[in-house]
Amino acid sequence: MTKRSTDTAPFPVCPDDELVLNEPRAAETPWGPVAVVRTGTGVYAVTDRCSHADVELSDGFVEGDTLECPAHFSRFCLRTGDALTLPAAEPVDTWTVTVLDGVISVAPRP
Ligand code: FES
Repeated sequence: MTKRSTDTAPFPVCPDDELVLNEPRAAETPWGPVAVVRTGTGVYAVTDRCSHADVELSDGFVEGDTLECPAHFSRFCLRTGDALTLPAAEPVDTWTVTVLDGVISVAPRP
């Protein structure tokens, strides 16, 4: 059965033990691309497109609980999605993350 884009049940993206600290991982979901990141404080997921241009944030750099765009170096808060530095001025969407039975799953926030 195919998952519909209106379905908000968590979607599995990777085994928990394969997500390396501070190394963003790209995943495709029924709702679009997502960047999943493990930091020192937890596992976060944001839409895998910079709000400034069509660039994958999963190619970016993690520092603390922020993710820096690889193109023009805007930094986004992984907790809130807020753009913390220019040139990006708009936030990116944050996603709900669940870890169950060793699997990381994500879902868009309602
Ligand atoms: S594309 Fe991300 S800051 Fe410009």
